[in-house]
Amino acid sequence: PSLEKEFLPMYFGWFLSKRSSEILRKAGQAFLDELGSLKAFKKESKYFASAIEDPKIKIDLTSYFVKRPPGVLHCTTKYTDFGKAAGAEEYAQQEAVKASYGKGFTLAISALFVTTKTVGARVELSEQQLLLWPGDADKILPAESLPRGSRAHVTLGCANSVEAVQTGLDLLEFVKLEKAGNKGEEVGEIGGGKLLYFGNGMWMLILSKKIDVKAIFSGYYG
Ligand code: 2AM
Repeated sequence: PSLEKEFLPMYFGWFLSKRSSEILRKAGQAFLDELGSLKAFKKESKYFASAIEDPKIKIDLTSYFVKRPPGVLHCTTKYTDFGKAAGAEEYAQQEAVKASYGKGFTLAISALFVTTKTVGARVELSEQQLLLWPGDADKILPAESLPRGSRAHVTLGCANSVEAVQTGLDLLEFVKLEKAGNKGEEVGEIGGGKLLYFGNGMWMLILSKKIDVKAIFSGYYG
């Protein structure tokens, strides 16, 4: 049976297990702690002005990203807004979506990133996982074209008055810079991997070992 419009969720996505959520949250926390006490970061701390107490000691990024998702973490595939979003119905009716609903997946986290607005984890989707990825998600402007799955992420936190939708847009900014040939400035190796700085308060930690997280593909009804 086809899904009725009034029964579409707020969004579809992969919902991490409790254990995987804890592991990823911890990795994000460790990254924020280490970044906040790094000399190179302090030098560029003007972008995080409200987090500066004593710049010689530490920038408190944990309290800077005050809005943190409660409960289990997730990677949104399609924001359907209970059926009101463009392409919601079409997405929900796809064979791959129906066949995968309620199924378990392993997602690969390849990087963690921080901007002045959000902190998130970059998700590297497999060919099979890309079947669940909507065709219109990887662009901010209609004319843009970035590799499928570019936007795939898990939101770990947002700064005061920033909405979660921003995390994916921030990740697209990194990918746009990468596409334009900007590979970021290598700041050095820190716990977990290689730290890159893209300017304007945009930091990315390329994990030396990807974090595999277990997740169920499902819908969130609010
Ligand atoms: P997120 O995927 O970056 O965390 C509920 O608001 C969830 O849907 C959040 O997890 C949020 O962002 C995501 N979301 C909200 N509005 C969205 C939109 N317009 N496009 C894509 N995802 C959206």
